[in-house]
Amino acid sequence: MAKIALFGANGTIGSRVLREALDRGHDVTAVVRDPAKMTETHPRLTVTTGNVLDAESVAAAARGQDVVVSAVGGGDGPGHIATIKPSAESLVAGVRRLGADAPRIIAVGGAGSLRTPDGKQVWDTEGLPEFLLQIMHAHGDALEFYRGVTDVRWTNISPAATIEPGERTGTYRTALDDLVVDANGKSRISAEDYAVALVDEIEKPQHVGERFTVAD
Ligand SMILES: NC(=O)c1ccc[n+]([C@@H]2O[C@H](COP(=O)([O-])OP(=O)(O)OC[C@H]3O[C@@H](n4cnc5c(N)ncnc54)[C@H](OP(=O)(O)O)[C@@H]3O)[C@@H](O)[C@H]2O)c1
Repeated sequence: MAKIALFGANGTIGSRVLREALDRGHDVTAVVRDPAKMTETHPRLTVTTGNVLDAESVAAAARGQDVVVSAVGGGDGPGHIATIKPSAESLVAGVRRLGADAPRIIAVGGAGSLRTPDGKQVWDTEGLPEFLLQIMHAHGDALEFYRGVTDVRWTNISPAATIEPGERTGTYRTALDDLVVDANGKSRISAEDYAVALVDEIEKPQHVGERFTVAD
């Protein structure tokens, strides 16, 4: 069983990762800014206070863990964009402080940089709102940052273009840098199935040092 530190455990995606990891027998430390917001209790769940933007806080949370998962960002305020690349930098800086004992990082990424069937990228789609474009490019910048990191084991998992709470089917499709679409050209994943894929990657690492994407 893995020991997992999870940032964003009370978020839309992070809470599904938390549930999936606990259901599959892993030990999870939820690292949250406000423990009062964490209503979930479980014998293998520990709740601790921390901030993903503080490398010292990351190092403290990461010590003794097998993997640090980051599902941070979110909302429609400027804090969302401001969290994405800086959190990648502090996660890497934090685990790096642990040297040979550093756990791997698995970060929730964005779909914007994925290649579309017409050879463009999702963020080239006409008519995207400015705020969404900024989030997409912030995730793109974070991914470029990760791709320059060779001394820390990282994985970035881009959701499908649409990710929403839904059904846990336990099945999904993956690709590296190409948007995965269905027969109707739609790219979707439930947050529950995204969590299945993320925990599968924890249990059987197949994408260390690269980005992959998950869709139904
Ligand atoms: N299709 C796509 O590409 C796609 C779609 C959706 C989401 N995403 C990405 O997935 C990520 C998660 O999205 P979500 O919808 O699950 O967001 P969410 O529901 O708003 O949850 C965000 C989580 O991040 C935490 N957080 C924010 N700043 C933090 C900090 N400095 N330190 C520790 N925790 C912090 C929040 O904790 P608090 O409770 O303390 O605020 C919350 O638990 C985002 O990066 C988002 O851009 C991508």
